[in-house]
Amino acid sequence: MRYGLPDRQNAGRGGIVSNSISLLFFRTAAILLIVGMLFGIYMSASGNHATAGAHAHLNLIGFVVMSVYGIFFALNPKKSAGRLPKILWGLNTIAAVVMFPSLVLLLNGYPGFEPLVAAASFLALAGAILFAVLLFQPEAV
Ligand code: HEM
Repeated sequence: MRYGLPDRQNAGRGGIVSNSISLLFFRTAAILLIVGMLFGIYMSASGNHATAGAHAHLNLIGFVVMSVYGIFFALNPKKSAGRLPKILWGLNTIAAVVMFPSLVLLLNGYPGFEPLVAAASFLALAGAILFAVLLFQPEAV
């Protein structure tokens, strides 16, 4: 699989041209959604909602934001090429994966994990800034 190139199997079939980087975003989002929902079910079953913030951020950064990035690259194959989309995927994935457990621990009374939550937040923000840079970059012709 070569990231950043239009998927030849889907190209030219009249539908939305998919590409492997958008699939990578969607696959990651699907896995994180399952983890987020399982954690939500655990919170419901245990009656302990103290970590609702961690659940919410995993679902929102890991599934919603990740999926929106994936939709963007599916709709804009020209923007899918190069290193920036892969860096964006890395930033958002690390942000979600680091933020979730450290926020669970922080909300369970371990304040030492706050710097990790802060670091993950800045990674998510860096991803959002990179997304904006990609959006404002002139189209390659
Ligand atoms: C199996 C699916 C899910 C279950 C069982 C579940 C369960 C829960 C529970 C028990 C709470 C705490 C409610 C409270 O204390 O008032 C909660 C909060 C929340 N959930 Fe979910 N959830 C699920 C899916 C999702 C998804 C897919 C999203 C977002 C895309 C989401 C976003 C949120 C948000 C934003 C909150 C509020 C957090 C807060 O108040 O700090 N949840 N959820």
